[in-house]
Amino acid sequence: MKPVLSVTSECVPLVKTGGLADVAGALPDALKPCGWRMRTLLPGYPRVLEAAKRAKELAGFPNLFGGDARVLGGKVSGLDMLILDAPHLYDRNGTPYLDDQGQDYADNPERFAALSWVAAEIAEHGIGGWKPKMVHCHDWQAALTPYYLAKRGSPAPSILTIHNVAFQGIAALDRLHSLRLDPVDFSPEGFEYWGQISTLKAGLVFADRITTVSPRYALELMTPEFGMGMDGILRQRQSVVSGILNGIDEEVWNPASDAEIATFKTARGKSRAKRQIVKELGLTKTDGPLAIVISRLTHQKGLDILLDAIPAFLDGGGQVAVLGAGEKALEAAFARAAEHPNVAVRIGYDEGLSHRMMAGGDAILVPSRFEPCGLTQLYGLRYGTIPVVAMTGGLADTVIHASPMALRSGVATGLQFSPVDAAGLAAALKQLMALYAEPDIWAELQANAMRQRVGWHASALEYAALYDSVSGAS
Ligand code: ADP
Ligand code: GLC
Repeated sequence: MKPVLSVTSECVPLVKTGGLADVAGALPDALKPCGWRMRTLLPGYPRVLEAAKRAKELAGFPNLFGGDARVLGGKVSGLDMLILDAPHLYDRNGTPYLDDQGQDYADNPERFAALSWVAAEIAEHGIGGWKPKMVHCHDWQAALTPYYLAKRGSPAPSILTIHNVAFQGIAALDRLHSLRLDPVDFSPEGFEYWGQISTLKAGLVFADRITTVSPRYALELMTPEFGMGMDGILRQRQSVVSGILNGIDEEVWNPASDAEIATFKTARGKSRAKRQIVKELGLTKTDGPLAIVISRLTHQKGLDILLDAIPAFLDGGGQVAVLGAGEKALEAAFARAAEHPNVAVRIGYDEGLSHRMMAGGDAILVPSRFEPCGLTQLYGLRYGTIPVVAMTGGLADTVIHASPMALRSGVATGLQFSPVDAAGLAAALKQLMALYAEPDIWAELQANAMRQRVGWHASALEYAALYDSVSGAS
């Protein structure tokens, strides 16, 4: 087995704020059959250390970005982990990135520069007798790893995966020293970004390969509209940029064995799950489709568009159930929308409820303004819950639109809409109603959706091939 180090700020089941955690948690198992053994370096947040009580100290790092630190290693929740125990950086009450007040920790750049620094140390010197052939870094939090490696002249190759280019690891210029950056690289050819430092950009400049989480987002990233300022550097480096679709954990998301639900093997069995969720959410039974949303409530996810688009759908007997948390204004707007008898809203993060909604819903709505990959539409496919998605990024790559031709050919799995605005979504919801009213066509859509392969198999092979090529292994 060829050794590879993964560097991430989140990893399921230990800590999660979004899809990055799912991907980081799934990759190690997915890669095993492809000949790569992945160990994951993760910050020692309080919950992680709690789960890692049996892990052993492998190395000490005195004065790591303002305090003493050590790396613990061992199996934690079934994963082969390296945990960076640095209390001065990670022993905090809030989420991995935000304090109790919902504000970014002021020292976030240093907190994750430290993670990247330790990753570079491990890649160069190994740890506890283990040395990776290469490093796979995720997002801005790990993106200084390729930079530090390059500055040491280390031959260890690196890949950087962009899960969301909107998060860029920006820091003011006066942090150069505290981030252990060389002033020489404060230039457009280095990590300089509109007069500031961007750790993401450092990674984009210095990584040997760049990937993102869908082929379409890889192309979109090179445009000014979606590249969010990084499009120039991505165009320059386009020969090393590629898109590899995320998969989902087909064990965790399996309608035939899901402990949260009345299980089903074919879509016909969904009716029991629907009755249960309608009851649980306090909705009344209608003849219309139940459309669900499970999402962070942020501008990216386009849920303000949804609020404007649903009146006609509700009047027609459609129902909408939303599970989400995020921006306070959106939370309040959804709380108001829930006054309609055909709308149910749960503000908060609830894994179990997300499974019960996925099983009982008829459709899942994902109206994102941009979406690097998106996972909930993939869960929808697996549960015969028809995805209605914005035509962007990974959403466009994973859903086959029910055009007349696709329907006639028997390949359609959902609906895509464009432009991504209220009129576009309202039109898609109208089409959804019409399809739902034709039981044979609807059943075929569900069957097609449930047949689609949404696991990790194909993408793990793509990552393994990339690892082989970048590390010179075979
Ligand atoms: P992003 O990472 O941009 O938030 P993804 O679709 O890739 O988007 O991943 C989101 C993940 O978080 C999915 O696993 C989804 O089910 C989960 N999720 C989002 N909001 C909630 C919530 N309120 N309760 C439970 N799970 C949620
Ligand atoms: C990001 C993206 C999402 C993607 C996830 C995992 O959070 O917003 O589209 O699925 O990362 O790659």
